[in-house]
Amino acid sequence: MMTTRELQDEIIRLKKENDICILAHAYQSHEILEVADFTGDSYGLSKQAATAPQKNVLMCGVRFMAETCKILSPDKHVFLSNSAAGCPMAEQLDVELLQSLKDKNPDYTVVAYINTTSELKTICDVCVTSSSAVKIVKNIEQLTKILFIPDCNLGAWVEEQVPEKTFKFVHGGCPTHLRMSIADVERAKAAHPAAKLLVHPECLAEVSKAADYIGSTTGIIDYAKNSTDREFIIGTENSILQHLQYECPEKSFYPLSKDCVCHNMKLTTLMDVYNCVKGAGGEEIILPDDIRTKAKACIDTMLTLGE
Ligand code: 13P
Ligand code: SF4
Repeated sequence: MMTTRELQDEIIRLKKENDICILAHAYQSHEILEVADFTGDSYGLSKQAATAPQKNVLMCGVRFMAETCKILSPDKHVFLSNSAAGCPMAEQLDVELLQSLKDKNPDYTVVAYINTTSELKTICDVCVTSSSAVKIVKNIEQLTKILFIPDCNLGAWVEEQVPEKTFKFVHGGCPTHLRMSIADVERAKAAHPAAKLLVHPECLAEVSKAADYIGSTTGIIDYAKNSTDREFIIGTENSILQHLQYECPEKSFYPLSKDCVCHNMKLTTLMDVYNCVKGAGGEEIILPDDIRTKAKACIDTMLTLGE
């Protein structure tokens, strides 16, 4: 049986030999992050997907991330590390429902969180991620009416920062982040009164309102790393705590809730990654040409307006 370290060494050797770029979302385990060429939040991964020099890309994350990568790099072979890893939020809205909402609101710009299927993206105007949403919505000049899908909590957080625009939301959200409640905030603050509360904008509004900082996965990591504070309560997927402990061993990190675990993100194991780089695992992402080309427009707009 190989040890974790031997497995990681083999993965690093095989990815070079087979010209594979490994992209890993920050909600992956630390042992996977250590063998990745790039780690980060959804926006960072999208940018990296568009520019990686390798012929093959392995996405350690969930399906919409691998699809985004394929849309941006159609000539590359793009693989999802574990084919069962989906994002429940991405499936909350289908094309028929969104089309009927568009028909009822013809003067609204459809702003889609990147956590959506490629099919849905074909009828959206622009994609956003948690780290780029405010900037992009502000940058959509002349367009003042926004239909924000599917995450109402992220949408409400953007609305607060762009009060000059009119927003409509559709009921939706991340089941992982919605597990955290105001009772969790009260409990964690009572247990750690000196700690700063850092949360993801996918959290309920009442949780976000109690926070010292609201931001994307990368935003939370950077805030904790750069802060002079020493204790933090983390209100996002709990893998971030482990990464932060490695980054800042002198600081203390506490989970806002023990239940904030994304079971889809946690499906991928280091052995899955090993099997993928060996050519014996994962799923190659194949998208019909018309879906790929139509979905690309709103991702390209995101990358342009997000810079
Ligand atoms: P970010 O990567 O933009 O922080 O989003 C978190 C998330 O839930 C990804 O699925
Ligand atoms: Fe989807 Fe939420 Fe998991 Fe992100 S954390 S992949 S939004 S279910």
